Order: sequence, then C-alpha cells, then structure tokens
Amino acid sequence: MKKILALILAILMVASLAACGGANDTDTATADDAKPELVMGTNAAFPPYEFYAEDGETIIGIDAEIAQAVADKLNMKLTIKDMEFDSLLTAVQSGAVDIVFAGLTVNEERKQSVDFSMTYATGVQVIIVKEDSDIATVDDLSGKTIGVQAGTTGDIYCTDEFGQENVKQFTNGALAVAALQNGQVDCVVIDNEPAKSFVAANDGLKILDTEYAVEDYAAAISKENTELTAKVNEAMEALKADGTIDNILAKYIKAE
Ligand code: ARG
Repeated sequence: MKKILALILAILMVASLAACGGANDTDTATADDAKPELVMGTNAAFPPYEFYAEDGETIIGIDAEIAQAVADKLNMKLTIKDMEFDSLLTAVQSGAVDIVFAGLTVNEERKQSVDFSMTYATGVQVIIVKEDSDIATVDDLSGKTIGVQAGTTGDIYCTDEFGQENVKQFTNGALAVAALQNGQVDCVVIDNEPAKSFVAANDGLKILDTEYAVEDYAAAISKENTELTAKVNEAMEALKADGTIDNILAKYIKAE
C-alpha cells in the first residue's frame, strides 16, 4: 500500500513539474512575442557569413549570429529575411527590413543611400579560376569573361575596369562558380571567405594569390532610423569589447 502511495505521489510530482515547465515555456514564448522585432535582410548564399543549415530552413553564419547577439542585447526578437543581394539596400531604405547584415562592404556610393554600423570584419575580393587556367594575375583579366554576383563590389570593380560586356552577372556566387565549372566564364571575382567555401566544395578550382581589393563589412540601416543605428552600434561595441564578435568570426573562419 505504501509503495502504491509513494508511486502515486511520484507521478503527481512529475506531472506538476511538467506542468510548471509547460507554463514556463509559454511565458517565455509570450515574452518573446512581446519583444519588438528586428527584421534583418540578407542574401543567404554567402558562406560563412550567411547560408542555410542542413535542415534547409535555418539561416546560419557569422552575420546571423552577430545579428542575434545584437538583438539579444537590445531585447529584440530577430527575424531574418532572405532576398536578392541587389534588392537589400532598397529594402532597408523602404523599411521592408530594419537592418542588412550581408557581408556588406562599406563604400562611398552606398553611404549616400544608407547609414553603416561600425565595421566588424574585413573582406578581400579575390579571383577564382580553374586549376589549369592561364589567368595568373589581375592583369590577365582583360578580354576574359568574368563572373560576379550582381550588385556586389566585385561586380562594380570589374564592370568599371573591364567593361560591362566582359562581366556576367549571377544572382549568387554559387551560380557564378557553376558557370566557371561549365566554361561560361573564365573566372569569378568574389569575397575571399565565400570563395574558399566554393573552392572547397568544387573540384578543379583555385583562388589566385592576388588581392583584388580589401574592404570592410558593416551592417546597413536606414538614414531615417538614427536611433536604431545608435543602439546597434552600442550593442556591437559591447560585443566587440567582450570578445563575442571575435568568437563568432573564429568559429566560422579557421585560421590558416
Ligand atoms: N562584400 C560584397 C559587397 O558588399 C559582397 C557581399 C555579398 N553578400 C551576400 N550576402 N551575398 O558587395
């Protein structure tokens, strides 16, 4: 009899614990829903900055993690929207998204239309070629067909320097690299970290030693939203100071 009583008691305790847990879950969910939203726009085909996890649904990477850390600091709920790279700045200007984290290079032209946060990483434009290519330096690029991701700084430099007719635009780096594989373009100009992942994922490609351009990455926010820019900068400075940003970078970028 005692045993049965003990058993019933035990079951009741477990049940009430479970109920408690349940109640807590709902509490956090409600608290989370009540938080103001921080909508981030990105183009999630740019590993290791933003790409899809194996589930094919979750966007992960350096930018997703830094944005999450910023949102946590500001007590906001982060939502990530995946879109074409060349519509990101319009999206932040129109308010369709609050912030862009996209391995986005700071440049004068973009500064005319958006405000940038503090910079958090460096990017280098590099050249990917086939292993047996006769292209060895930037000087060998004239007269070649260059693949780029539309609207990126790589696109802008190559179009300026080698002419629109020699530059083929793709919606993402992976498509540009596929075009290189099947001979549609002679090389791809893209940021170094995604270049490394594309070369690792494809046989017969290499990255040239030449650094075509060195750039800084920052988040973009609407010029009208100076309050958000100030808050994001404050959060990012704290995350830089306490090592969070460096840890996120080190997690995705292995030192050579
Ligand atoms: N850094 C380059 C730029 O700002 C390329 C960025 C591409 N980013 C992306 N998420 N697809 O133009």
